[in-house]
Amino acid sequence: MTSAQTPDPSAGETVSFGFKTVPEEARQGLVNEVFSSVAGRYDLMNDLMSGGLHRLWKDDLVGRLAPPKSDRAFHLLDVAGGTGDVTLKALRAGGPGTRVTLLDISPEMVEVGRKRVADAGLSERVAFTIANAEALPFPDKTFDAYTIAFGIRNVTHIDKALSEAFRVLKTGGRFLCLEFSACEVPLIDRLYDFHSFQVIPRLGQLAAGDAESYRYLVESIRSFPRQERFAELIRAAGFSCVGFRNLTGGIAAIHAGWRT
Ligand SMILES: C[S@@+](CC[C@H](N)C(=O)[O-])C[C@H]1O[C@@H](n2cnc3c(N)ncnc32)[C@H](O)[C@@H]1O
Repeated sequence: MTSAQTPDPSAGETVSFGFKTVPEEARQGLVNEVFSSVAGRYDLMNDLMSGGLHRLWKDDLVGRLAPPKSDRAFHLLDVAGGTGDVTLKALRAGGPGTRVTLLDISPEMVEVGRKRVADAGLSERVAFTIANAEALPFPDKTFDAYTIAFGIRNVTHIDKALSEAFRVLKTGGRFLCLEFSACEVPLIDRLYDFHSFQVIPRLGQLAAGDAESYRYLVESIRSFPRQERFAELIRAAGFSCVGFRNLTGGIAAIHAGWRT
């Protein structure tokens, strides 16, 4: 992605895109450009950017999801599922009754995910859907659980995505969100700032020739609501028993809620 493609922010409603301000209707297209440009290197960059921590955080997320080990039917919707990490972990953690619908707006990210799922021999238990988290193409009360990992901060209208999550979950269904958050440990936060603003864009340039996309990824993390504020948004969408747990001093957090 190049900065020359950033639209003129002087017209209409504007929203944040990382640290920039862009017209509301242009934001999702810019996000899509980022992910179509990084898709082929996304998994490698994810490991480099987080030092492999994202794997442990995703294990934690799937541990909380706790899909049944038995053959009891369990249908997970993995939104912004991208290259399929959470989908694959959920299938491996669950029994033969666990199925996943991986939904993502980027055809390029889904293609990588589809190939990984096929390589794992799990294609029969996964459906792929290309759609926006803000308008899920499923009937009400379809899924037993909804996960979204490192996806919600990319969505333009977080409230719409949360309402859609609530709508498609069955009564008793669980919402789980893993997202970068606000680091709350003094020394770690300084190291984290240095890593985010100095190391990651350079890594993006070196490994993918694309500092701009990686700058967006970092800036979008800092523009996302803090833990408590995000929990309020989840409650406002109708979820009950909403809580969160910080991971690695709050660099990431898992928010959870139930549809009751
Ligand atoms: C940082 S990746 C996370 C992928 C995967 N969940 C993981 O944790 O590795 C963010 C994903 O969100 C997707 N995305 C961005 N905006 C979206 C939207 N409005 N609806 C659905 N997916 C979206 C992107 O295409 C991308 O695949």
